[in-house]
Amino acid sequence: MSENIPTEIEKAYQHALKAQSLSYSPYSKFQVGCSIKFKDVDELVPGCNVENASYGATICAERNALIQSVARFGKKEIEYVVVVAKTNSPTPPCALCLQVFSEFGPHDFPIWIGNSTKLLKKYMFRELLPISFDTLDDRE
Ligand code: THU
Repeated sequence: MSENIPTEIEKAYQHALKAQSLSYSPYSKFQVGCSIKFKDVDELVPGCNVENASYGATICAERNALIQSVARFGKKEIEYVVVVAKTNSPTPPCALCLQVFSEFGPHDFPIWIGNSTKLLKKYMFRELLPISFDTLDDRE
């Protein structure tokens, strides 16, 4: 990446790699790790993908982190996300995870994506999901 990487993002990247090492992914053998920083929460929340013999019951690393964060801190706004996968080019969160991200604030926030050796790319959330499904704000 040409952009300078802030120290706190480097820390979150290391945190995501640690979570990735705990991934339970015997079916796909595709390990994903995630670290999310929320506003008003000091610690980073980790997530890894957890697969299941009933494949549809698999949870992605990103949703794992989000769901844990609600149980621990209540619903908070996302400040930034770091996701790591073992790929050469950046692997963005899937559309299902992006939709779940959208519930955690209508604001935009950075999503940093890395592999085993480095951070590769920073996207803004709204680049990846410009419009989300939302039933709370605009009923007739
Ligand atoms: N996976 C994630 O953890 N995050 C995503 O955004 C997309 C996919 C996981 C689910 C499954 O365990 C493996 O990657 C292969 O699809």
